[in-house]
Amino acid sequence: MTAFNQTRSQFPALTNHAGAIFFDGPAGTQVPQRVIDAIVHYLAHTNANHGGVFATSVESDRVTDAAHQAMADFLNAPSPGEILFGNNMTSLAFHLSRSVAKVLKPGDEVMVTRLDHDANVSPWVLAARDAGATVRWISVNKDDCTLDLASFRRQISDKTKWVAVGLASNGVGTINDVATITREAKQAGATVFLDAVHYAPHGPIDVQSLGCDFLACSAYKFFGPHVGILWGRRELLETLPCYKVRPSSMELPGKWMTGTQNHECLAGVVAAVDYLADLAPPNANRRARIVHAMSAIRDYEKTLSERLLNGLAARPRFRVLGIRDVKRVAERAPTISITAKDVTPQKFAEHLASRQIFAWAGNSYALEVSEQLGLEPNGFLRLGMVHYNTPAEIDRVLAALDEVR
Ligand SMILES: Cc1ncc(COP(=O)(O)O)c(C=O)c1O
Repeated sequence: MTAFNQTRSQFPALTNHAGAIFFDGPAGTQVPQRVIDAIVHYLAHTNANHGGVFATSVESDRVTDAAHQAMADFLNAPSPGEILFGNNMTSLAFHLSRSVAKVLKPGDEVMVTRLDHDANVSPWVLAARDAGATVRWISVNKDDCTLDLASFRRQISDKTKWVAVGLASNGVGTINDVATITREAKQAGATVFLDAVHYAPHGPIDVQSLGCDFLACSAYKFFGPHVGILWGRRELLETLPCYKVRPSSMELPGKWMTGTQNHECLAGVVAAVDYLADLAPPNANRRARIVHAMSAIRDYEKTLSERLLNGLAARPRFRVLGIRDVKRVAERAPTISITAKDVTPQKFAEHLASRQIFAWAGNSYALEVSEQLGLEPNGFLRLGMVHYNTPAEIDRVLAALDEVR
């Protein structure tokens, strides 16, 4: 198991806020210096619009092409042309949903889950509504917050045209068995959209082995800038109708990336992917190094989850949402949400903030699961860890929680 202490110095925010504990990764991670440098370098040296014949534009296109390649390596996409960028995952999902609404028909069915972030629910529910299609919900096992596969299997049929599931829950941390759901949904003839926003900083992603049709993530959740990313299967991206301006290209990826992109942040995306790849030993190709690094991150983060779960188990006033058995840490991200009978999540967050501990209270847009667990309107306190967090930080967080009465 590798600890990542030595990489903390690469993150200026961790030094600029010395003594602070960043347990807010699920809402956005900090960035290493090289991401900041890449953004500044883009703006200072290669700032131009796309497709010109002059030096800055040619160089700018080189940078954005590199971003497509970097994300193809990160997701193991078959080609960089299948990588689309946009403002954020939510906007990309809504963009795609307009096309989905055009191909759905009355009588068709769309399947979403009661565990997902609303950005992987509302775009498809609204597309179904526009098309006169029916929405089916995969339910959640309330005790461990896993998806109820039986409810998925009961409802999937040849009427199901679209299945939207998350790789991991940003609310309660569950890692879903998306490979099984994807396989069975594809066997039924559905198109599968996976939301990897929460999972992306925690482990390797391989769209080819998952067998899905679309997969979305956001660079600001995996040590990059605020940019959304959508991978789509080539045949679907080529054939689906797309809302776009007439002069923009019909070729991939331009067909789906109409409008000028956030070029400086695409430079930052390359740097974020390279940061992760460089956590692995050199002398292998970037994809292999990404897999190596993300696997090491996953292993390290399991030890963080174990420590926090053990600490919480010793404090019976806390209810841990979702998987709390330390033998099952492989089934969850290190995103551990809690409630207590006597104190609201907001009050905990405020006290932690007074101790320089940054954590979120509320439902984090995981609205359905918060409702299912009876936690609205207050939601929960979310303690979200990534590889730059340490065991010593967990001990300080637990001690700070104990101070609240
Ligand atoms: C699981 C999950 N899906 C989707 C989103 C939305 O991502 P974005 O902010 O890029 O729109 C988030 C953001 O928190 C998330 O955690």
